[in-house]
Amino acid sequence: MRIILLGPPGAGKGTVSNLLKNHDGSVHISTGDILRNAVKEGTPLGQKAKEYMDRGDLVPDSLIIDMMEERLKEPDCQKGFMFDGFPRTIPQAEALGELLSKIGMKLDVVINLDIGKDVVLDRLTTRRTCSNASCQAIYNVKSMPPKQEGICDKCGSPVIQRSDETEEAILNRLETYNNQTAPLIDYYDQKGMLKSTAALSSDEVVKDILAAL
Ligand code: AP5
Repeated sequence: MRIILLGPPGAGKGTVSNLLKNHDGSVHISTGDILRNAVKEGTPLGQKAKEYMDRGDLVPDSLIIDMMEERLKEPDCQKGFMFDGFPRTIPQAEALGELLSKIGMKLDVVINLDIGKDVVLDRLTTRRTCSNASCQAIYNVKSMPPKQEGICDKCGSPVIQRSDETEEAILNRLETYNNQTAPLIDYYDQKGMLKSTAALSSDEVVKDILAAL
């Protein structure tokens, strides 16, 4: 599959991508995960991105577009991909369109996870993430706790709260989403590529995605 997952922070894009990972070999590409890795490793990209991320602002389009151009050239994308957190602005969507036509690929569908603000706030304040940069498994103290408190089920590393999960940064991320990312809903709707789901259960969301393909 070649899909984009759209939705506010905390909508469940990462959770749903993980559930779909074994479906057909499509690779899960989360720009947030790539950037957090870069920050942890202190690469030039990570050094530039850190201050934007900690505030809950978007990283500049030019950095993201270059990063994704490189990522899309990797051979694992040939089987398909699930974009989680990309594109996030109209210029990113336009750049993606050009990039895909250059390499002769087409998107199947854009899925909009249509989740209310209260649910999102609740999920984000209770989310925990594996601190191991190559794992980054997602948990939730309410709905999906690790088997052993504070320890990742998959790799045994500590499970932590992300540095952009302060209340101030969460509210800024939601505002950034409304101003800069939500316009993509209309953008892809007008291209006839959008399917929305308001399902709260991740299993239901997965069913809706598979039905849309
Ligand atoms: P990013 O990591 O992409 O953050 P985000 O979009 O804010 O999305 P999240 O990861 O917060 O949420 P999610 O929808 O994946 O939800 P999750 O599955 O974890 O980006 C971080 C930062 O990087 C940005 O702020 C920006 O600075 C930068 N960035 C990234 N991409 C960029 C781009 N393209 N351009 C510019 N800057 C960029 O679920 C949330 C919680 O809810 C979890 O605890 C989970 O267990 C729980 N949950 C999920 N589904 C359910 C369910 N059905 N029922 C109950 N609980 C659930």
